[in-house]
Amino acid sequence: MNRSSYQPSTLNDCHSIADLRTLAQRRLPRAMFDYMDGAAEDEVSMGRNSSDFSRHALIPRTLTDVSTINLRKRIQGVDSALPLLFSPTGGQRLFHHEGEKAAAAVAAARELIFALSSMSTHNIESVAAHSNATKWFQIYVWKDRGVVKEFIARCKASGYHALILTVDVQTSGQRERDLQNGFTLPPRFTASSLFDMALHPVWWWNMLTKPPVTLANVVNKAGLGVNNATALGHYAASQLDPSVSFDDLAWMIQEWGGPFLVKGVVAAQDAQRAVELGASGIMLSNHGGRQLDHAISPISALPALVEAVAGRAELIVDGGIRRGSDIIKALALGATACSIGRPYLYGLAAGGQPGVERAITLLASELKRSMMLLGCDDVNKLGPHYLQAR
Ligand code: GLV
Repeated sequence: MNRSSYQPSTLNDCHSIADLRTLAQRRLPRAMFDYMDGAAEDEVSMGRNSSDFSRHALIPRTLTDVSTINLRKRIQGVDSALPLLFSPTGGQRLFHHEGEKAAAAVAAARELIFALSSMSTHNIESVAAHSNATKWFQIYVWKDRGVVKEFIARCKASGYHALILTVDVQTSGQRERDLQNGFTLPPRFTASSLFDMALHPVWWWNMLTKPPVTLANVVNKAGLGVNNATALGHYAASQLDPSVSFDDLAWMIQEWGGPFLVKGVVAAQDAQRAVELGASGIMLSNHGGRQLDHAISPISALPALVEAVAGRAELIVDGGIRRGSDIIKALALGATACSIGRPYLYGLAAGGQPGVERAITLLASELKRSMMLLGCDDVNKLGPHYLQAR
């Protein structure tokens, strides 16, 4: 259990994802931290995404040789060093000036998959040039289908391996911390900014001296100026299409013609239909609780999807993972892998690329240690016999 009063000062002082979160909170202006850390309305889904893992108890099988442990897993036909990948998350240069390049570089160094968000602050091409990790790209069905086609062509040209279609943003969730803080992109200068500069000088220095934060994939859209991130944000929000249906999914799977994941599905029937249309993976997700509050947690939704999909597609649990033992539980219930968003963003905000590295090191060592103590020497051997529902 994390001591709530513990205040790490450096990355080495961080012994858990919770410690990285504490350090990130110190390093970031409040509005930036809350944008990353917060969720929709009462934040019930976000809390349950993590707490629902404790509804499963582990049953250790001791007296098993665990002198070597295999943590490697095949995910969408690619060998990954861990059953864990980087979820697509937008706006990363708001949290650290290195932005998406930090996690993409860690993914390359650690043989992990990195997924880039449509709303990223480095573009498709520059992330590809910076990192030779296996990369996936996250996309929405934009109202302007020409934008979708353009993104697909750019991803193919830059060697992205898979496409992820996010389907839970028919409109934006209501994130009340952002409303209360007056969060804007880019950050606005007010009298209180001056006070905040004294508290977070490094962040402000980078924000004011580095190239402006923008939605890098869409800067050339609608005649908007490169610096006008607010206009770009409005443009992007106006492009969310509330009419998206399975027909759009079928169309996009055909357009892409490669590994294709649908993110934001938690209903068994929807997963079944997506797989019938050709999806090779489902990312069980409620967008980190940032969209529909009270939506079921991915770990709770998993058993029904395992049954419905019956091995025809891979299931990735996205949301709530804060410990290595959470990954074990998801895999024991039938997931292929887990994906993380906030845990690596806490690391990024706490210390750039070394902070992301620290987040992965912590989760990997927790996973290995928990596998040893569970008496299971291979993540591919995890199954329901290691769990009891509580
Ligand atoms: C974007 O997808 C967000 O959740 O902020």
